[in-house]
Amino acid sequence: MTSNRTGESTSTSSSTSSSASIGIEDLELAASHHVLDLGRLAEARGVDPAKYTRGIGLDEMGVVAADEDVVTLGASAAARLLERTGTEGLRTVLFATESGVDQSKSGAVIVHGLLGLPSSVRSVELKQACYAGAAAVQTAIGIVARRPQEKVLVIAADVARYGLGTSGEPTQGAGAVALLIAADPALLAIDPVSGVYSADVDDFWRPNDSTTALVNGRLSISAYKNALLGAWDDLQAQGGPGVDELEAVVYHQPFTKMAVKAQRFLDQHTGGRLDPEALEQGAVYDRRLGNTYTASLWAGLAALLDHREGLEGRRIGLFSYGSGSAGEMLTGTVQPGYARPERAAATRAALDARVPVTVEEYEELHERLLGSDEDVETPRVTTAPFRFAGVQEGARKYEATA
Ligand code: CAA
Repeated sequence: MTSNRTGESTSTSSSTSSSASIGIEDLELAASHHVLDLGRLAEARGVDPAKYTRGIGLDEMGVVAADEDVVTLGASAAARLLERTGTEGLRTVLFATESGVDQSKSGAVIVHGLLGLPSSVRSVELKQACYAGAAAVQTAIGIVARRPQEKVLVIAADVARYGLGTSGEPTQGAGAVALLIAADPALLAIDPVSGVYSADVDDFWRPNDSTTALVNGRLSISAYKNALLGAWDDLQAQGGPGVDELEAVVYHQPFTKMAVKAQRFLDQHTGGRLDPEALEQGAVYDRRLGNTYTASLWAGLAALLDHREGLEGRRIGLFSYGSGSAGEMLTGTVQPGYARPERAAATRAALDARVPVTVEEYEELHERLLGSDEDVETPRVTTAPFRFAGVQEGARKYEATA
């Protein structure tokens, strides 16, 4: 299977019968200011550390500082991305999150202001648990398909929060990925055909009056499996590529062992054997970020592109799952020149630069949530380009750090 720079495939698969090539031009990951070593959490909770590192496949989890949230994470990722790509043609910002900062105003509008984008750019937020990132990418592709000179900035940003001491606790995390969606993309040309799946399930949700997610862990894993296999079957029904046409699949990774389970489910279902090495390559960043909900799949893609050689012209799968539930299996062809050692080095540096917290410090940050009923100034902690400055007259205020 090969594809040229414009995404015209030489394959006979009907999935590639599109004319225009649209997909990911570039991407950038942002990490939180703090990090918690899960070995320390295991010790504090009286759990064998191997349960976290091997059993669920996570080494660390991102922890946001008092002056960080999804807006600052998303804006920081986007600022660094747009420094490379420029803003020419940018007319839409889509912000995907499950942990938004306001019930009405979108994170996209705040990021739009922080980045100093012109008023002639539309800005909106999307929600369907962890799936909203893929929904934003598909929405962006639709916009670019109508007018190929336009570009769309997609931001997937989340802070995953479960209750202290719950079984979900080690699967928290924080991070953001910004993606520029454009015609004739430099990184990944996304195929027009995808497989989709929706079913109303109460496996994981967050009521309006709760700052932490509620979850039925066992049910969430079977709901993920149903969505994966349902989306796969739909992909086949739509004429998408078969399993032997895929070099690798990247998965939504609430914890990286979930991707291992997912690939096993898919192999059993299809009778194929997807490359297990790709699972490790696609898990490098998620093992250190923890669950980043909407950003998790795209952090997995970044890790695969940064750690796997020989992907030029190869087709990969991308499985997005959002509890509640929605799943989508996208496929796309990796473009020549996708390997960017400087981007990989910057991502590693951002993860290494996080300041470790003790379990006590993490617990204090976890419980420190600001209401909107009194004016508060947050302490200056983060060294990222933007910070959450505090609450004034009920409104959250943001500023550049430099
Ligand atoms: N050494 C090595 N492995 C160990 C071990 C040890 N000492 N002790 C346990 N393990 C293994 C277990 O065998 C198990 O492995 P398998 O699943 O392969 O059998 C694994 O560690 C986890 O052990 P448990 O099942 O006992 O763990 P748990 O009940 O405490 O919780 C969890 C696990 C259900 C994932 C929980 O962390 C949780 O609820 N997380 C949040 C929900 C979630 O992420 N669901 C995923 C699908 S939903 C989704 O994808 C959307 C989203 O982002 C939330």
